[in-house]
Formats: sequence, structure tokens, C-alpha cells
Amino acid sequence: MKLFLDTANLAEITEINRWGVLDGVTTNPSLAAKEKRDFADMIREICAEVDGDVSAEVVATDTDGMLREASELAAIADNVVIKLPLTPDGLGACRKLTDEGVKTNVTLCFSATQAILAAGAGATYVSPFAGRLDDIANDGIALIAEIADIFRVQGYTTEVLAASLRSPQHVAQAAAVGAQAATLPSKVFEQMVHHPLTDAGLERFLADWETYQAALEA
Ligand code: G3P
Repeated sequence: MKLFLDTANLAEITEINRWGVLDGVTTNPSLAAKEKRDFADMIREICAEVDGDVSAEVVATDTDGMLREASELAAIADNVVIKLPLTPDGLGACRKLTDEGVKTNVTLCFSATQAILAAGAGATYVSPFAGRLDDIANDGIALIAEIADIFRVQGYTTEVLAASLRSPQHVAQAAAVGAQAATLPSKVFEQMVHHPLTDAGLERFLADWETYQAALEA
């Protein structure tokens, strides 16, 4: 499963990229707004930092406007993926961009039927939002499993990008049900890597090594 970082913050991206685990970055208008700086500059710097796909979202709500923004965003760097909302206009823009060979990420997906439409429009990725479904007492991971099953049975090439993941358990569950990609905030990467037994084990190894070296020198 590809691991994407869900942020527009360059410091967070640089830190997780240092771990050698990052396949790309996803941004959205809310994440961009938090950074309080020029959007094109932000995307340019993120694309220079990571080798993989960087999703940059349009804010127009009509197909023509989305395509105009997509053309500006795609010109920023080769690894820009155009993120489009799962609306009739977004699907129309997705089809046109796919036909032109531009990668797309169809976002704000909350049902299997919406995901089927994204696949039909030729999306590179479709992003079901697990956490936001959990927030309204639905089962977000069950939706990701359902979409992954449908895509496998139908042979769709669109990749399931599990989004709105809020915990390490969400990430493991998305991987177990067959999501091809997952996007998670920096905090979840940190929660995934740390384990008290790793810390205690390392501390013990280093203490034993010190004792061993001191004994050799004595
Ligand atoms: O980037 C889209 C998605 O991952 C947002 O997550 O936590 O705002 O629902 P969240």
C-alpha cells in the first residue's frame, strides 16, 4: 500500500520523507489554508521535496473552471495529481484530464456508487473518507473494503486511496481490506512508528553495550 502524507506543511513533509516511506502527498483547500502562503509556491516546494504523486485540489465548481485550474496546477511540476470533487462537474473534468494523460484524484467519496462513477471517469485515484463516515456513526473502513472488492471484481484500474484516516488502526485496516494507497496526517505516522517496547528494548541494548565496552577497557 502506498503511503501518502495528508498535509501542506513542508516541515512535516520533510520530516516524514526523511524516513524513506513516503510515496506522495495529498493536500486539500483546508490544509492549504492553514499554511497562509501562496498556493502555487506551496505545491512547487512540495513537488520538489517528494518524488511521488502530489495531489493539488481545484476550487472551481464547474468543469471548465476546474480544467483551467488543472492546467495551471499541472504546469507546476510533473508529479502534480489533479484533485477533483466527486460531483458531476468533477467527473466531467476527470474524464477530460484522463483522456489528456493527466493523473487525477477524485475526492470526497462517501459511497460505493460514487466510487464506481470515479472509476468510470478514469480516475487515477478515488479517495473515500473513512474518518468522516465514522464521525456520523457509519463504518468508513467497511466502505473502503466494499470499494476495493468491487474494483477487484470489475478489474478497474483506479486505485483506492483511503483518506480521512485518523489512527494507526485505520491504516492497518485500510491495508488489510486492500486499499492500494492511504493518506494520513503526520501525527498518525508518528503514532505508527513509536512503540514503548522498541524504546525500552533500544535503551537496554545501548546500556548493555556500554557495560560490555567498559568491561573490555577495564
Ligand atoms: O485530505 C482529505 C482527508 O484525508 C481529510 O481528512 O481528517 O479532514 O476528515 P479529515
